[in-house]
This record gives sequence, C-alpha cells and structure tokens, in this order.
Amino acid sequence: MAPPSIPGAEFVGSGECATCHEAITRDFPTATHARLKAPGDNAKNMGCESCHGPGSLHVKSGGAAHTIVNPLRSPETCFQCHLEVRAQFDLPHHHPVLEGKVSCADCHNPHKGDAIKGGGANFPQSIKGGGTALLSQNDTCFQCHAAQRGPFVFEHEALREGCVSCHSPHGSVNQRMLTQRNQTLCLKCHFQQQTVAGKIYIADVDHSSFLQQGTCWSAGCHEAVHGSQVTPVLRY
Ligand code: HEC
Ligand code: HEC
Ligand code: HEC
Ligand code: HEC
Ligand code: HEC
Ligand code: HEC
Ligand code: HEC
Repeated sequence: MAPPSIPGAEFVGSGECATCHEAITRDFPTATHARLKAPGDNAKNMGCESCHGPGSLHVKSGGAAHTIVNPLRSPETCFQCHLEVRAQFDLPHHHPVLEGKVSCADCHNPHKGDAIKGGGANFPQSIKGGGTALLSQNDTCFQCHAAQRGPFVFEHEALREGCVSCHSPHGSVNQRMLTQRNQTLCLKCHFQQQTVAGKIYIADVDHSSFLQQGTCWSAGCHEAVHGSQVTPVLRY
C-alpha cells in the first residue's frame, strides 16, 4: 500500500489543502479514503495525498503545474494500492480503462461518500445518506448505458439487485462481462425444481429440453434479459 511519490516532496496532511480547494476538502471526511494515514512515527492524515502524492512542493509553490499527481490522467495511481484490480481490466472482456476510454472516476467517488458510487456492501448507511445524496449504483451505469434503463413494461426484477448481480463491472472472462457463462447465471436466482423424475422445472414450466438448446437468453427464449415491452416472460 504505497501512495504515489513525487521527488523531493513530503506529506503535509489534508488540512493544508483546504486553503485553496475548499469545496473538495469540506466533503472529504465522508470519503472512503479519508481514513488513510501516512506510514511512520508522526503519521499524518494523508487522505488527499494517498492519491495525489505528497503535497509540500505543490503547497509551497501555490499550486504550480506538475507539482502534484492527477489520477484522472492514469489509473496507475490507483493500482499502487489496488493491484488486484489491475488484472481484472486485463481479462478478455473489460471496461476500456487501460485503453483510456473510461476512467475509475466514472464509477468511483474519490472525494465524497462511498468510493463505490451508489454505495458498496460494506459502507455504513448513515454515511451513504440513505441513497438520496448520491447516485444509486445502477444510475452510474445508466450514464453510459441508457438502453438498460428502460422504462420497461415488464421489468426484470433482477435489475433491482443491481447490474453487478450479473455483470463484473471491471472485467470478466465471459462475454458481455457476465459473472457466469451459462445457465448458472440465471439459476442462482431461479431454482430448478425436480418435481417429476427426469424433468427439470423452472417457475413451474418444464424446461428439460430447453436447457440443452443454449443459454436462457439465447435460443429465442428470454432474449429481453433486462426487460421487455411485450411479454412478462422477457422473450423479446
Ligand atoms: C496555495 C494554494 C494551494 C494549496 C494549499 C493546494 N493547492 Fe492544489 N492547486 C492550486 C492551484 C492554483 C491549482 C491549479 C488550478 C486548479 O486546478 O485549481 C491546483 C491544482 C491542483 C490539482 C490539479 C493538478 C492537475 O495537474 O490537474 C490537484 C490534484 C491539487 N491541486 C491537489 C492539491 C492537494 C492534494 C493539496 C493539499 C496537499 C493542494 N492541492 C493544496 C493551489 C493550491
Ligand atoms: C481516491 C483517490 C483520491 C483522493 C483520496 C483525493 N483525490 Fe482529488 N482527485 C482524484 C481523481 C481520480 C481526480 C480526477 C477526477 C475528478 O476530478 O474527480 C481528482 C482531482 C482532483 C483535483 C482537480 C480537479 C478539480 O476538481 O479541481 C483537485 C484540486 C483535487 N483532486 C484535490 C483533492 C483534495 C484537496 C483531496 C483531499 C481533501 C483529494 N483530492 C483527495 C482522486 C483522489
Ligand atoms: C494509498 C493507497 C490507496 C490509493 C492510492 C487508492 N486507494 Fe482506494 N482504497 C485504499 C484502502 C486502504 C481502501 C479501504 C479503505 C477502508 O475500507 O477503510 C480503499 C478503498 C477503495 C474502494 C472501496 C472498496 C470497498 O470495498 O468499499 C474503492 C472503490 C477504491 N478504493 C478505489 C480507488 C481508486 C479509483 C483510486 C484511484 C483514484 C484509489 N482507490 C486509490 C487505498 C488506496
Ligand atoms: C464501469 C464502472 C467501474 C469502473 C470504470 C471501475 N470500477 Fe471499480 N467497481 C465498480 C463497481 C460497481 C464496484 C462494486 C462491485 C460490487 O459491489 O460487487 C467496484 C468495486 C471496486 C473495488 C472494491 C472491490 C474490489 O474489487 O476490490 C475497488 C478497489 C475498485 N472498484 C477499484 C477500481 C479502480 C482502481 C478502477 C480504475 C482502474 C475502477 N475500480 C474502475 C465499478 C467500476
Ligand atoms: C463512462 C461510461 C461508462 C460507464 C459509467 C459504464 N460503462 Fe459499461 N461500457 C462502456 C464502454 C465504453 C464499453 C465498451 C463498449 C464497446 O467495447 O463497444 C462498455 C461495455 C460494457 C458492457 C459490455 C457490452 C458489450 O457489448 O460487450 C457491459 C455489460 C457494461 N459495459 C456494463 C456496465 C455496468 C454494469 C456499468 C455500471 C457498473 C457500466 N457498464 C458503466 C462505458 C461505460
Ligand atoms: C439478470 C442478469 C442481468 C442483469 C441484472 C443485468 N444484465 Fe446486462 N446483460 C445480461 C445478459 C445475459 C446479457 C447478454 C445478452 C446477449 O448477449 O444477448 C447482458 C448484456 C448487457 C449489455 C450489452 C448490450 C446488450 O443489451 O446485449 C449491456 C451494456 C448491459 N448488459 C448492461 C447492463 C446494465 C447497465 C445493467 C443494470 C441496469 C444490467 N446489464 C443488468 C444480464 C443481466
Ligand atoms: C439476481 C437474481 C436474478 C437473476 C440472476 C436472474 N433473475 Fe430472473 N427474476 C428475478 C426476480 C426477482 C424475478 C421476479 C420474480 C419471479 O418471477 O421469480 C425474475 C423474473 C424473471 C422472469 C419472469 C418470470 C415470469 O413468469 O414473470 C424471467 C423470464 C426471468 N426472470 C429470466 C431470467 C433469466 C433468463 C436470467 C439469466 C440471464 C435471470 N432471470 C436471472 C431475479 C433474477
């Protein structure tokens, strides 16, 4: 866990940034990264500098160019501490972050609230602000994927559990960044019932022969997987 380095600069602590970047500093105590401390004896509250690098030269120069790191230009800053995430963007199907077309900050809040826009599982509800102050996690995706927003006459209720119940947001070995490649994806919520020997029922419909024809969302079965304007069984 090493923050970015800047030759000749030292940590000054987040309080020093307030003079010139008032708005960002004001909200920052609610941010996931605000808790981070610099290593060493006189550990400073390095929050801002965990991503922007030690700020002494920047502060002393009154904010001169090239004295501080701006992670918008490169995700490498983030990978210094989140190395395991880097590999996810190398998987065969991924958001083009390493290609420079999407940035970590499109989906993550660096300065305010939960780093995962809309809230991750581990973030206290009190800080999330009850979901009103910040975008929900799906809203983040809709910024670029408007088609999945609907409105649908027949919405697939799975969307309420979040896009990430079916998609790995960074990347996946599976097409369309799906978390699973085949029926397993759908069967984690739609249980198979074995009411009659040798037959497989899903939602009281005999699926025994269907399951051999392809995935649930291909083969002309449930192709409108996000929602349908036409049929409640999400056929098209
Ligand atoms: C004395 C005033 C001053 C202080 C203190 C200050 N900055 Fe800045 N900072 C500026 C100015 C001026 C700019 C350039 C104009 C702008 O982007 O607002 C700037 C720009 C930046 C940028 C954008 C740089 C870029 O290349 O795009 C970042 C990031 C930044 N500051 C972070 C910090 C952090 C972190 C601290 C505290 C460690 C800090 N600043 C303290 C004045 C200051
Ligand atoms: C989790 C990493 C992270 C932390 C912690 C962080 N920043 Fe940033 N900062 C970013 C990223 C990413 C960008 C570029 C995207 C953006 O502008 O939101 C940025 C952009 C900036 C900018 C330039 C753009 C602008 O809005 O003016 C300033 C100034 C800045 N940060 C100051 C701060 C200050 C001050 C703190 C602490 C109070 C801080 N940052 C903490 C990641 C971080
Ligand atoms: C200096 C190390 C460091 C840097 C640099 C850093 N992070 Fe983090 N990040 C952490 C730590 C540590 C946590 C866990 C904080 C906690 O839970 O208290 C974290 C948490 C997160 C989380 C929330 C994880 C969760 O499960 O809730 C996200 C998302 C995240 N970081 C994204 C980023 C992004 C994007 C950048 C670059 C703009 C970045 N981080 C830069 C150390 C860092
Ligand atoms: C397309 C949106 C998107 C982009 C781009 C993105 N993330 Fe995420 N990230 C998410 C979502 C959504 C989650 C929460 C996943 C969940 O709840 O299962 C997450 C979770 C995380 C976590 C915590 C869980 C974990 O996997 O460790 C970290 C850390 C993180 N992201 C870092 C990053 C960094 C660093 C970048 C840029 C290199 C980045 N993310 C780019 C959407 C994105
Ligand atoms: C800043 C814009 C942006 C955001 C935000 C965003 N995406 Fe994407 N998404 C893209 C781009 C760009 C691609 C690559 C499209 C391509 O390669 O044709 C993509 C591709 C995808 C694909 C694969 C599509 C395909 O045809 O293979 C899925 C699935 C996806 N995104 C889901 C999500 C989810 C889920 C979220 C929210 C966690 C999200 N996206 C947030 C821009 C975004
Ligand atoms: C129930 C599982 C599930 C959920 C939840 C889900 N998706 Fe999908 N998504 C799929 C499947 C399956 C495909 C592949 C469809 C295909 O290849 O025909 C897909 C494909 C996509 C594509 C590629 C374009 C397309 O329509 O084929 C995008 C973009 C996408 N999803 C975004 C999202 C977003 C954004 C959300 C959240 C609002 C979301 N998905 C929620 C299962 C899901
Ligand atoms: C995260 C959980 C979840 C996942 C994953 C999921 N679903 Fe659903 N699905 C639901 C819920 C909840 C409903 C509404 C209640 C019900 O009908 O069971 C629903 C309803 C449906 C319906 C409408 C059923 C009816 O008779 O009205 C179809 C069709 C469907 N899902 C197909 C799929 C397909 C195909 C997949 C895999 C791509 C899938 N589901 C994955 C949760 C999920």
